[in-house]
Amino acid sequence: MNFLRIEGGHKLKGSVEISGAKNAALPLIALSILAKGEVSIFNVPNVKDIKTLLKLLSNLGASYRFEDSFVKIDTSSINHTKANYDIVRTMRASILTLGPLLARFGHCEVSLPGGCAIGQRPIDLHLKALERMGASIEIKQGYVVAKAKKGLKGGVIIFDKITVTGSENIIMAAALAKGKTKIINVAKEPEVVQLCEVLKKSGIEIEGIGSDEIEIRGSEGELLDIEPFKIIADRIEAGTYLCAGAITNSKITVKNMIPSHINAVILKFQEMGFDLDIGEDFVTIKENPKIEPVRIATSEYPGFPTDMQAQFMALATQAEGVSVIEERLFENRFMHVSELQRMGAKITLKGNIATIEGGVKLMGADVMATDLRASSALVLAALSAVGVSNVHRIYHLDRGYENLEKKLTSLGAVVERLSE
Ligand code: EPZ
Repeated sequence: MNFLRIEGGHKLKGSVEISGAKNAALPLIALSILAKGEVSIFNVPNVKDIKTLLKLLSNLGASYRFEDSFVKIDTSSINHTKANYDIVRTMRASILTLGPLLARFGHCEVSLPGGCAIGQRPIDLHLKALERMGASIEIKQGYVVAKAKKGLKGGVIIFDKITVTGSENIIMAAALAKGKTKIINVAKEPEVVQLCEVLKKSGIEIEGIGSDEIEIRGSEGELLDIEPFKIIADRIEAGTYLCAGAITNSKITVKNMIPSHINAVILKFQEMGFDLDIGEDFVTIKENPKIEPVRIATSEYPGFPTDMQAQFMALATQAEGVSVIEERLFENRFMHVSELQRMGAKITLKGNIATIEGGVKLMGADVMATDLRASSALVLAALSAVGVSNVHRIYHLDRGYENLEKKLTSLGAVVERLSE
């Protein structure tokens, strides 16, 4: 297995370009199941999760091309609707094929994704909503067996909790359903908004995009003409690189991003004393000799994203004072804590609240990644630590960060990918 060897203590400089958002590309690739013909998608990040979903679609019979961040998919040749466990278990976002397959074919079997390091991550809200739309759902030997022989019908869906992929599944199902679907307490993440915008451009009537209540008039089973589109920039990748500048006390510019998608993150940098220049499609973070401690509580968009929690925990170890971070979305998203402690971080946990004592000089160490964002937090800590760190199990990183070591090296970091 590969690992990253990182020599800490180097200041960074220059700029880095952000790739397309993995969490926007995944639902939009699943959306191709609803397309009449070929779908062309630009600015797709070349990361493992994308390749996994494309492989799943090709296992169903679809054909695709993926080169230089361009994807062309033709799902007209899909000849069965069983998404197998061996692929779904490697990428839980495969559940995004459930809504579209059911809407288009009237039946499908999708393996239950199972939990992951950050939590049990059930899909009960996805299933309850599809039943509201007339589907019959059974769980059989670890598979969701969904049927809607007469097609899905519109209805009123109220999500008890805000769910990003749950919202995306239902939005795609509603796009082909008979009649209108109103979704209340729908997720408002920029990735959900882009899915709605692409659907709207494909002729689906959608009201309330970006709000917590949307209404979709379905096409009554009519497949969609989906025009070519470009994936939005990855807001979490952008936030992660800004953290790299912050934790190494450097001035760097993050380009090709959408600053308004990380307003909550920018606010927290400012609360910590960082001075930022915010442009149309870039943010420059400047050196900050005195990092203030911070209080963070993760919440759904537009609140502080849970996907930036681990990165800010690493940064908080360098603040002068005690920071507090509360993780409100997932029950076990502190797997990075024990690894940061091995580098000397002083963090105590009480339930879903982490208290981070700042002013600690982190020491390089061998650490192990456990999930995508935790691994990026370990990389950030290693950039700031004294000496060399080896970050193991970086297949977690490769799921969501395109060309990570190349981008960090271009900023002046000393990072190399080695094999165990
Ligand atoms: C999406 O996951 C993202 N993944 C996650 O990013 C992100 O952390 C998460 O949203 C929250 O923003 C993708 O978009 C592919 P949820 P998702 O359904 O949709 C509970 C990354 O780093 N819940 O919004 O799976 C759930 O347990 C990944 O790229 C139910 O109880 O998250 C969690 O506590 C990690 N029942 C909360 O809701 C359900 O049916 C939010 O989950 C669904 C969810």
